[in-house]
Amino acid sequence: MSGWTRRRLLVTLGSAATAGLVAPALAAPRDAWFGVGRGELTGQVALVTGSTDGLGRQVALELAALGARVLVHGRNRERGEAVVREIRDLGSEASFYAADFAAIAEVRALAEAIRGDQDRLDLLINNAGIWRREGDETRHLSADGHELMFAVNYLAGFLLTHELRGLLAASAPSRVINVASRAQAPLDFDDPMLEREFSPGRAYAQSKLAQILFTLDIAEAFAADGITVNSLHPATLMDTTMVRLAGMAPRATVEEGVEAVMQLAVSPDYGAGGGLYLEGLEEARAHPQAYDEHARAALRRLSETLVAGD
Ligand SMILES: NC(=O)c1ccc[n+]([C@@H]2O[C@H](COP(=O)([O-])OP(=O)(O)OC[C@H]3O[C@@H](n4cnc5c(N)ncnc54)[C@H](OP(=O)(O)O)[C@@H]3O)[C@@H](O)[C@H]2O)c1
Repeated sequence: MSGWTRRRLLVTLGSAATAGLVAPALAAPRDAWFGVGRGELTGQVALVTGSTDGLGRQVALELAALGARVLVHGRNRERGEAVVREIRDLGSEASFYAADFAAIAEVRALAEAIRGDQDRLDLLINNAGIWRREGDETRHLSADGHELMFAVNYLAGFLLTHELRGLLAASAPSRVINVASRAQAPLDFDDPMLEREFSPGRAYAQSKLAQILFTLDIAEAFAADGITVNSLHPATLMDTTMVRLAGMAPRATVEEGVEAVMQLAVSPDYGAGGGLYLEGLEEARAHPQAYDEHARAALRRLSETLVAGD
């Protein structure tokens, strides 16, 4: 049996439950992931950004089922509180944090609130993201005047990860996962905000490659603090709100993406080292710009300037 077929058999059935824009509960969380069973994450704290919906929501439920206290994040309080209730029904603890990643000040406030409320952070999953809406070719800006997909998909995670580094280091061994994509376009550092040449596809793809450059850029220094940083493409066109709003036909279940994220989150095979990019469950090669240290340094400088300018 091929690895792919085996993985398909392993995923939980039930993606029909994701129909509609507010996805109802998916399949019941699994009893174990990659040898880590229920209760084994008790005492650990996980922040999953963008866990009011889609991939992040189901990952939050799976982590909670293994015993983690989950910090649920998004903009929509009603959906966030519903996820918190679902987690409590599983017998785990959760809290909801609202923050709009289209505003740097809100990302900073989120980090400050978490540092104030939590005495540890074992896992940070930078998952919150946006894609194009069907028929919308407009270049949207964040509250800080940055191209919106760059701001929400990449820059917010850049800032949040640095702001929470101390808490992650104090909880080492800890992990950071950047949920990127196979859609990748190189950044043009002469026009990083795509003022001259914009398309929604390019904006999304450069924001996703930026997450991978960021992963490779910080992996070694974070590993020295006991923090393992990896990135991945979860699955292609999962059945989520993002894909439906783009007018695309889903080609994968949310559960496929969940399995890929859970591997990086809990598997003992990915608890040290870091600096990897995976597609699904397999290590893969990202766009060549990810391996260009000058590009990574340019992105680092740009990001530091942008987050300092709020
Ligand atoms: N779907 C796919 O096939 C696919 C493929 C490759 C990679 N990915 C990546 O996987 C991640 C999750 O995607 P998904 O398909 O699960 O999307 P989704 O169902 O649309 O969920 C996106 C999540 O991000 C949050 N979010 C959106 N805008 C935000 C903002 N401005 N500030 C804070 N939170 C915000 C949403 O919460 P609120 O609405 O409550 O703010 C929601 O919880 C994304 O990073 C995406 O790029 C997805």
